[in-house]
Amino acid sequence: MRVFIVYCHPSEDSFTKNIRDAFIKGITDSGNEYVISDLYKMDFNADMSEQEYLRDANYRNTPDVAADVLAEHEKINSSDAIAFIYPVFWTEAPAKLVGWFDRVWSYGFAYGDKKMKMMEKAMILCSAGNPIERLEQFGLLASMKKVMFGDRLFNRAKQMEFVVFDGTSREKETREGNWEQNTKKAYEKGKNFFADAEESFSVDDRFFTAVENSASGEVSEQTVFCYHQKGNVIWAEYSGGDIVKGFLIGTMDEEHNLHFNYQHMNTDGNLRTGSCDSAPKIENGKLRFNEKWKWTMGEEGTSVIEEI
Ligand SMILES: Cc1cc2nc3c(=O)[nH]c(=O)nc-3n(C[C@H](O)[C@H](O)[C@H](O)COP(=O)(O)O)c2cc1C
Repeated sequence: MRVFIVYCHPSEDSFTKNIRDAFIKGITDSGNEYVISDLYKMDFNADMSEQEYLRDANYRNTPDVAADVLAEHEKINSSDAIAFIYPVFWTEAPAKLVGWFDRVWSYGFAYGDKKMKMMEKAMILCSAGNPIERLEQFGLLASMKKVMFGDRLFNRAKQMEFVVFDGTSREKETREGNWEQNTKKAYEKGKNFFADAEESFSVDDRFFTAVENSASGEVSEQTVFCYHQKGNVIWAEYSGGDIVKGFLIGTMDEEHNLHFNYQHMNTDGNLRTGSCDSAPKIENGKLRFNEKWKWTMGEEGTSVIEEI
C-alpha cells in the first residue's frame, strides 16, 4: 500500500519535521511505501493563475492543466491513501498548502466529473502552538476539522482522522516535555496507518441527513446534522429544510446508542424541543441511526438518519 504525504513547513528546524520523519519511519517499518510532496522544498507555486481560475470557475474540463498540478494528480491516483502534515498557521494550513488545494483540487479531478481516486484513508497530522483546550473552547479545532473533512476531503476518502499535536510553540514547556511521546505517537500513526480499521461508532465530525421520518417530524433529506463527540458526550448542529437552526446534546452509551435532547427553530418561527433515543447500525461502512423521538408537547415518532 502506498501513502501520498503532502508536507508543508517552511523550516527544517521544526517540531513538524520531527513528526513527519517519525510518521514516515512508521510507514516503512510496517512494510508500506510512501511518496512525498514537500511543498517548500519543491517551491510549489501556490498562486492560482487567471487561466486556472477561469477554467475552474467556469467548470471547463479542458486539458490545459499545468504540469506541476498533473504531477500531484499522478501522485494521488497512484497512491491508496493521503496524509497531510503541517503546522497550524492562523487556524489554517500554511498558505502554500491552502494554495495547493486551490490548484490541485481542480475541476474534472477533484470535483465535477472527477478523476480523483477515492482514498482508502486520509490523515491529517498538524502541530498547534496552542493547547487543545483553547482550540476547543474557541471552536478553532472544530473550524479546522470542518474545512478539511466537510469540504476538502468530503467524499474523497473513506476514512478520515485528524491528529493535533498541541502546545508545541517554542515558549511552551510542553513542546520539549511531550517531544518524545509525540514522536512515538506519530510513529505509531504511520505504523498502523494501513491496519484494518475497526468499525467506528464515533460520531465525531460525521455528517448525517434524515432519510425517513414520521409525518409529525420536522427533519428531512434537506436537513444536515454535523455531529461531534468527546468521550461519551455527543452533540450536533443541524439545519436545512424546515429547520432554520437546531442543536442537540446528550450521551452515547456503551452499546453506542445515543440519548439526547434537541431543540430547533423551524421556518414557521416556532421553537420546538424534544428528546430522542437512537440506535446505531453500520451499513456499507456508513453509520445509520434508528431514532425514536418525542416532542416535549407529547407527540412521538421515528426517523432514520444516515451518514452522508
Ligand atoms: C504565522 C504563524 C501562525 C500561527 N498560528 C497558530 C494558530 O493559529 N494556532 C496555533 O495553535 N498555533 C499557531 N502557530 C504556532 C504553530 O502552529 C507552531 O509553530 C507549531 O505548532 C510549532 O511547531 P514547529 O516547530 O513545527 O513550527 C502559528 C505559528 C506561526 C509562525
